[in-house]
Amino acid sequence: MKDASPATAPKTFYLKDYTPFGYDAESVHLTFRLAPETTRVISRIRFTPKPDAADRTFFLHGEELKLISAKIDCQAVTPELVEGGLKCEVPGAPFTWEAEVEINPADNTALEGLYMSNHMYCTQCEAEGFRKITYYPDRPDVMSTFTVRIEGDEPVMLSNGNPMGQGEGWAEWHDPWPKPAYLFALVAGDLVNHPGSFTTKSGKEVELNIWVRPGDEHKCAFGMEALKKSMKWDEDVYGLEYDLDLFNIVAVDDFNMGAMENKGLNIFNSSCVLASPETSTDANFERIEAIIAHEYFHNWTGNRITCRDWFQLCLKEGLTVFRDAQFTADMRSEPVKRIEDVIALRARQFPEDNGPLAHPPRPEQFQEINNFYTATVYEKGAEVIGMLKRLVGDENYYKALKLYFERHDGQACTIEDWLKVFEDATGRGLSQFKLWYSQAGTPRLKVSEDYADGTYTLTFEQSTPPTPGQPDKAPRVIPVAVGLLSPNGDEVRGTEVLELTEARQSFTYQGLASKPVPSILREFSAPVILERESTNAERAFLLAHDTDPFNRWEAGNALAKEVRVAMVLDGAAPDAAYLDALEKLVRDDAQDPAFRALVLTPPSQSDIAQTLFDRGHTPDPQKIYDAAETFTQTLAQQLETSLPRLYAATTVDGPYAPDAEGAGKRALNGRILSLLTRLDGGEQAARQYQAADNMTQQYAALGALLKAENGEAQSQAFFGQWQDDRLVMDKWFALQIACAAPEKTAATAAALTRHPLFSMKNPNRFRAVFGALAGHHAGFHHASGEGYQLLADNLIALDKLNPQTTARMCAAFQTWKRYDAGRQSLIRAQLTRIAGTDGLSRDTTEMVTRILDA
Ligand code: BES
Ligand code: ZN
Repeated sequence: MKDASPATAPKTFYLKDYTPFGYDAESVHLTFRLAPETTRVISRIRFTPKPDAADRTFFLHGEELKLISAKIDCQAVTPELVEGGLKCEVPGAPFTWEAEVEINPADNTALEGLYMSNHMYCTQCEAEGFRKITYYPDRPDVMSTFTVRIEGDEPVMLSNGNPMGQGEGWAEWHDPWPKPAYLFALVAGDLVNHPGSFTTKSGKEVELNIWVRPGDEHKCAFGMEALKKSMKWDEDVYGLEYDLDLFNIVAVDDFNMGAMENKGLNIFNSSCVLASPETSTDANFERIEAIIAHEYFHNWTGNRITCRDWFQLCLKEGLTVFRDAQFTADMRSEPVKRIEDVIALRARQFPEDNGPLAHPPRPEQFQEINNFYTATVYEKGAEVIGMLKRLVGDENYYKALKLYFERHDGQACTIEDWLKVFEDATGRGLSQFKLWYSQAGTPRLKVSEDYADGTYTLTFEQSTPPTPGQPDKAPRVIPVAVGLLSPNGDEVRGTEVLELTEARQSFTYQGLASKPVPSILREFSAPVILERESTNAERAFLLAHDTDPFNRWEAGNALAKEVRVAMVLDGAAPDAAYLDALEKLVRDDAQDPAFRALVLTPPSQSDIAQTLFDRGHTPDPQKIYDAAETFTQTLAQQLETSLPRLYAATTVDGPYAPDAEGAGKRALNGRILSLLTRLDGGEQAARQYQAADNMTQQYAALGALLKAENGEAQSQAFFGQWQDDRLVMDKWFALQIACAAPEKTAATAAALTRHPLFSMKNPNRFRAVFGALAGHHAGFHHASGEGYQLLADNLIALDKLNPQTTARMCAAFQTWKRYDAGRQSLIRAQLTRIAGTDGLSRDTTEMVTRILDA
């Protein structure tokens, strides 16, 4: 009996309504009889009533399940089927619940629960997918041990924990660690493994495997090394050891997210684990290393200590993102990682926090939890931990973490538990700091300065604009890392963390010989928007002299923005002093190539639009695009004589290796190639395309050529070479759209949806096309409205197949209030059309309603 589509308005869940489940689940036994369209799942669960439970309702979640039979203590029962699950009369003493259900994995295009990807069975249970597998209290605070028997004729059949035995047509698994159902996993199919092993610091041998489809074996080595590095790093830095004899990773092609931390059986989107020099770019390698680390780190921050309820999601995700960022900084370059993260934060989290979808890192309500796996929960959640670490200091941070693992191992916790551990470890109160978890919106930090008789005063004023449901905000604790430079570039005061706690607060420095140049918010010490009167000369000075690498980049970025804004607003020519500063930096071989590449990367056009909007202007996407083009063209001309030398000097010789140093050089080389292509029309890029033996250089060359509208031959060659590699084909789809001129972007995307290799059912392919469309600022926001319409058409179509991915992509419309009345009404029309679609999913309904309510 399938659920009918919800006739009533979607239900809202509130944090304040939390009540524990009235029963403990002591053990769970599951038997799967696999068949693509008629899989049987037989569950046997031992439940014990909690003596002190306020609510003894026996409700089990269940969706899209066909109930075959149910028993309590071996006696058949007839549960009452209700919306979203079932209810049953149960004994007041411990009892055994048994149920048999039938499910249809082959028909599961939503990719939640048990589904099929390329003839392979796999599961995705976070957040609420287990209820599509069997009836169960599908909530993270119900933790139990799982024993799983899989029956079927698949050559490889995996589940969580340790193997208990296997034979012709069956395999059994047991996971000794109690876990919530969202960490359950099952995989079965024709798979091959890339093996490895790791010896933990206490001497335990752990067997490691990366399981892939036959033919992908050669793309596993890098991921395996990343896994070993992660295991070692977590022991060295956090003292955390792996706790099973086996750790499996499986790559699947159809996956809504990047990867999933199921206990002992991580499941990865193949794009986030498979890598080879010929098919993956440097950026892919870096991401794969980070995501393998992230999912591995969840074993402690997420699995051993989990979340009490989904409102606490940032407890595991914010902390694990923070940990994977520390890992990447240690493996690669700390400042480069920080700059990359801030770029991503501004690109994804700031628009969310300053628009209709704004919510605190710990939301207090939701309709569909899948809609809250957001940049705010993840990235801002991680920033909040970074601030906490800065405020208490490194030593106290690790002391608190040690206490967290000791005190809460095996529990399902809250943000309150997390903060209490810091309070207890440091003796410091955190009630004001806690506002970071409950208040939405990005604080604005206004800085003014005063200098007289050797005394220098910095005055800060903080305020946060209203966000949905939160008109007024209290002042927060903001750690502001500040250093002072003398006018000749010497550091006269090293970095010091100023702690803001009030709406307005001043800090004084004494005994300064002259008025210093302040370097404020070093390392981006808090996720705020700094507002400070400055001059381009001062920004150029900091770009050249700041001793904090993050703030050197930041000064260049601020300068770039000012120049762009002036070009858009006044039709000004690109600022000559800025061009000179860039030229000097690019040619300075003493500087880290990766850093130079970052300084040469222009601020995003969406960021310029937001800046204009914040200053009271209505951004015109076409004008912003034109200014970017003019700027790049002028920079290329300015650098004309040095470009060939720079190109040669940054070309990495020898065999490709995906290390940070080589990647930095290639990133700079790619920037130079794109400038060079502006002058030579693609001669050098065509040579590079021809000679490339790795995807980073092949892709950079193809991008430069497509941008110059001179890459048709190479694009066809690329297709011919890679049409059988899905992951490379995703790149091919995306790049053509990303490189199209604004007036052609929507048409290019539309044509690609008619390509034989386009598929609505593969989220990676859908995202390749529509992520690229939404990411092309001037193309998506072209005045014709074609971009809006094309995206809306396809979201409506995708919603019937895959609500989760559809809902996430609605965020492309979240910035709509920035733009002119014409564009707003075009977007409103599309959002209204989506909202009015018959049978629209709960996921997408929530997203479009929130965006429209702006
Ligand atoms: N637990 C998530 C995966 C997930 C999220 C599953 C939402 C189901 C619904 C996993 O740990 C995760 O956070 N993955 C990220 C990548 C990570 C490096 C931030 C992802 O999949 O994007
Ligand atoms: Zn995660």
